[in-house]
Amino acid sequence: RGTFVHLPLLNDTSAKAEIVRNQGVLGYDWQVNDDASFQSFLSSQGWTTSDVTVVESNDDRNEFFFPGFIDTHIHAPQYPNEGLFGSSGLLDWLNEYTFPVEASFGSKSDPENKDSDPKDTPPEGVRVYNEVVQKTLAHGTTCASYFATIHVPATNALAALCHKHGQRAFIGRVCMDNKEQCPSYYVDQDAEQGFNATIRTIDYIHTLDPNGTLINPIVTPRFAPSCSNESLDGLGKLAASYEPPLWIQTHIAETTDEVDLVQQLFPESTSYADVYDKANLLTNRTILAHGVHLTKDEMSLIRERGSKVAHCPASNSGLGSGLAPIRYMLDQGVTVGLGTDVAGGYSPSILEVARQASLVSRLIQFSAEYQQLTGNTTFDGSEKLLYQDVLYLATRGGAAVVDMAEDIGGFDKGMIWDAQLIELGAVQNSTTGQLDVATLAGRAVETGPVGNVDLFGNETWQEQIQKWMWNGDDRNVKSVWVQGKLVHTRDE
Ligand code: GUN
Ligand code: FE
Repeated sequence: RGTFVHLPLLNDTSAKAEIVRNQGVLGYDWQVNDDASFQSFLSSQGWTTSDVTVVESNDDRNEFFFPGFIDTHIHAPQYPNEGLFGSSGLLDWLNEYTFPVEASFGSKSDPENKDSDPKDTPPEGVRVYNEVVQKTLAHGTTCASYFATIHVPATNALAALCHKHGQRAFIGRVCMDNKEQCPSYYVDQDAEQGFNATIRTIDYIHTLDPNGTLINPIVTPRFAPSCSNESLDGLGKLAASYEPPLWIQTHIAETTDEVDLVQQLFPESTSYADVYDKANLLTNRTILAHGVHLTKDEMSLIRERGSKVAHCPASNSGLGSGLAPIRYMLDQGVTVGLGTDVAGGYSPSILEVARQASLVSRLIQFSAEYQQLTGNTTFDGSEKLLYQDVLYLATRGGAAVVDMAEDIGGFDKGMIWDAQLIELGAVQNSTTGQLDVATLAGRAVETGPVGNVDLFGNETWQEQIQKWMWNGDDRNVKSVWVQGKLVHTRDE
């Protein structure tokens, strides 16, 4: 609010804007290119030129604006373990890699985990959290839903760092009180202590950002096996006791071993989703990570409750968890966004996750589980997620997951400016291999392609976007804004 952004690239080539809009990748509604209409728009808002920031993209460098990415599932403390998973599957990986790194975020002076002050976070923890927020911003992530650890000071420190760096974020203190399933060195004392600790993070975050403009708490039972029934029930009640109710996030049906374990631990429940439903944890403000092995009935229940799914294909392939049936889930009416699931996922980049989502969808026809779920053995290709689909999930899909579809994830009139400026780079002349100065408006340009995206000048707009989707990375992210504020500028 108070910030208005002028989008000359999209304006003066309205064909581009239309094409993108029709594909559902990008919305675009403002016509402010000529000065008169821009001025009349300003006065219709009661603004003057000094109330607004005008940002421009450079056609010669093949720049364009894109909605900021939304990472609907990421574990900030696991960032140091990125790319480290060996051959382990989920449950081994948690014990071998994940719990040890998360435990290191505990306050050294407070083994009982009673502190709240972010200053009691170990320095290495602050360094990791600082890095993960800046790194995800540099990859164009303007909004993230974070799992922290069981520790209150470190969870509060993560919230403070997101606030400081200007990233929109949901911050969850992880609840895990099942002593049989959690290591003795990393577990809540009991359900009650877990509630109290969680409330201290909620209070801190509400004080930090009373209107929840940027930062919001999120109730975070790790997953069913980590939690007692008392803890799951209590956390459902805790979330519902706020007005509006608090957000909730957890994991569901990530691996078949985990599904079997949940059936053993919760014999009274009819399904994994039913465990959460019985505890009132399936709400319209609940983000469920993975859902790789959900049944059709569970998908229906999730849709009825209005809960959302975070699809984390880089993690699912890395840990060998399975192939999530995303097209099928979308067809069942479930809302889906993308998640890096760092460090089950090896990369902090949602663009990388978008690629993996497309790849998984192209292979899923060969999965016996998918054939059984759908009742088909032959497929017509509609199960594949194309570049438009995965970029949609990365933006508008994620926005729907965090219930902000009206506000972020696109450039519709009146939306909040959570955006990234993407630079693909100058075009190479196809015969000489030199930079084509004719396209550079006579200006000296030192570099040609940016990163791995290499344009030859004959690409359509859709082809440029595809090249970016498959080969782009943080080198192409020139600037990032959240809530109209510049929060990242690429080093030149
Ligand atoms: N299930 C329970 N905890 C975790 C976690 O940290 N990462 C993933 N990917 N799955 C989980
Ligand atoms: Fe996860």
